[in-house]
Amino acid sequence: MQNEFSYAKELLDALASGGAFLVAGAERPNAMTIGWGALQRIWNGPMMQVLVRQSRYTHDLLDKDPRFTVAIPKPGEFRKEIGVCGVKSGRDMDKFQELGMIATTPHNGGIPGIDGCLNIECRSIHNIHVPVKGLPEALITKIYPDGDEHTLYFGEILAIY
Ligand SMILES: Cc1cc2nc3c(=O)[nH]c(=O)nc-3n(C[C@H](O)[C@H](O)[C@H](O)COP(=O)(O)O)c2cc1C
Repeated sequence: MQNEFSYAKELLDALASGGAFLVAGAERPNAMTIGWGALQRIWNGPMMQVLVRQSRYTHDLLDKDPRFTVAIPKPGEFRKEIGVCGVKSGRDMDKFQELGMIATTPHNGGIPGIDGCLNIECRSIHNIHVPVKGLPEALITKIYPDGDEHTLYFGEILAIY
């Protein structure tokens, strides 16, 4: 039976081999590259989890509007876009416009995804700050040399297309 979890392999494969996009911002959608994420069953439903560092423009956007879309490229596609969206900030440029990416029409009250990707349209129903305290020292040194901790968002899935 096809359900939300049928897409878990595509998501995890993309995250492990370059990344996927996290689109946030209703007025002017912005895409950032993500390497971490999960499709999980929590609170009796399928939930999409993403982790965003507090310094990101995307974090500011999610503070204003909790909706986001995870856009998963097919293997080998969107390489340049994944690269740019992983180093450039939407504070400094309109990534959709500069990269010629086409925003999709939301399917169920969410925000756009990216044309040509598998889009998981979500609304964050909860988020928690993830303190580094308690993590193994080696991970703190490697992943959090400057602090800049993550917020973990729990996205209710509105549509997949
Ligand atoms: C492969 C890859 C994976 C990344 N994964 C994440 C992630 O899961 N969470 C995060 O906060 N930043 C992640 N980043 C960094 C952001 O994509 C990057 O800082 C981006 O420029 C932020 O864009 P924004 O300022 O427009 O939000 C990743 C970068 C790369 C290249």
